[in-house]
Amino acid sequence: MNVEQAMQERRSIRGFKDQPVPRPLLEEVIALGNRAPSSMNTQPWHLHVLTGAPLEKVRNGNTERMLAGVPPSREIEDYAAYEGEHRKRQIEIAVQLFEAMGIERHDAERRQDWVMRGFRQFDAPVSIVVCFDRALLDNTIAHFDTGAMTYGLVLAAWSKGLGAVINGQGIMQSPVVREVANIPDDQVILTCVALGWPDEEFEANSVVSRRRPVENVARFLGFEE
Ligand SMILES: Cc1cc2nc3c(=O)[nH]c(=O)nc-3n(C[C@H](O)[C@H](O)[C@H](O)COP(=O)(O)O)c2cc1C
Repeated sequence: MNVEQAMQERRSIRGFKDQPVPRPLLEEVIALGNRAPSSMNTQPWHLHVLTGAPLEKVRNGNTERMLAGVPPSREIEDYAAYEGEHRKRQIEIAVQLFEAMGIERHDAERRQDWVMRGFRQFDAPVSIVVCFDRALLDNTIAHFDTGAMTYGLVLAAWSKGLGAVINGQGIMQSPVVREVANIPDDQVILTCVALGWPDEEFEANSVVSRRRPVENVARFLGFEE
């Protein structure tokens, strides 16, 4: 698969086969993500790859805390709710996903079930906890660098037939993740990636999210001269 095909076809995968992912394949995917550019080649990222018992512990801990009403707790600055155009796009993808899953607008139970799936990392066989050096916590470029690496990793996974979703929900109870994965104090948890073999039968996996046209995203200056 070439880069163009991977970039065109990749979409977030939220339903996985109950099938393990071999460690050598994960190492290949991580090696590709690790080729990402970073400011001054600082490479501020660290990855913690969980499967089996530790991942179950994280899933259970997340779920228990969310159900008990423990407020979300993450290690990067919390952002306010999206508004305006951002909110519109947030709603649009939620509607697409709920439509695909046949979840009615007023079906509170199934909506809640969907949210809980996210906290369980969509029952993926692998979760990659994405961290970066705490010394760079206030350096926005380190967040950018780690994000670039994460997208590279997700694209690389796709090119190998794996599916993934970058999943903020998976680290919403970051103290659980930190404790179970024994994350070193000098690292900050940014997000996680739920990953595995895509379940083609899972309806939400076929959702293609919309994008603004290029003319709305980019301005071109000096081309007509
Ligand atoms: C930083 C980040 C956090 C995300 N967190 C979640 C999440 O918690 N739950 C979820 O279902 N999708 C999550 N996503 C996936 C986005 O919803 C998805 O990328 C977006 O809707 C575009 O769809 P696509 O990836 O299929 O192109 C996240 C994506 C990013 C980049």
